Amino acid sequence: MSQIYVTRRYRFCAAHRLHTDLLSPEENWAAFGKCNNANGHGHNYVVLVTIRAGATENSNHLSSLDQLVTDTIIERFDHQDLNSDPAFSALTTTGENLVKVIWDILKPLLPAESLHKVGVIETRDNYFEYTGAI
Ligand code: NI
Repeated sequence: MSQIYVTRRYRFCAAHRLHTDLLSPEENWAAFGKCNNANGHGHNYVVLVTIRAGATENSNHLSSLDQLVTDTIIERFDHQDLNSDPAFSALTTTGENLVKVIWDILKPLLPAESLHKVGVIETRDNYFEYTGAI
């Protein structure tokens, strides 16, 4: 049995600061270095959403995906401070956590078994991906 996957690419720009109130200022600096600086910094995030292509797959299906991601991910995070988003009230805004937050937003809004993988490119050299709980 073969399975085709389709990946769509999306982009948003956002600020963040790697910081946790569970650690002292010194421990935060030791853990996150300059990413802990109080003024934050920004990234041009790339989000890669991979879905399983099925019998009903067509370009209209991808338009629906585009609309869904735009409404729930891009509109929510673009030109925002990720640390201020409720999803991160108890989470550090690492790429690891961001990719899982995006998965958790999209998963219940897509047909069952449709979502295969979410990837987040944070910097030239940092890429995170998540395929759901094992
Ligand atoms: Ni950063």
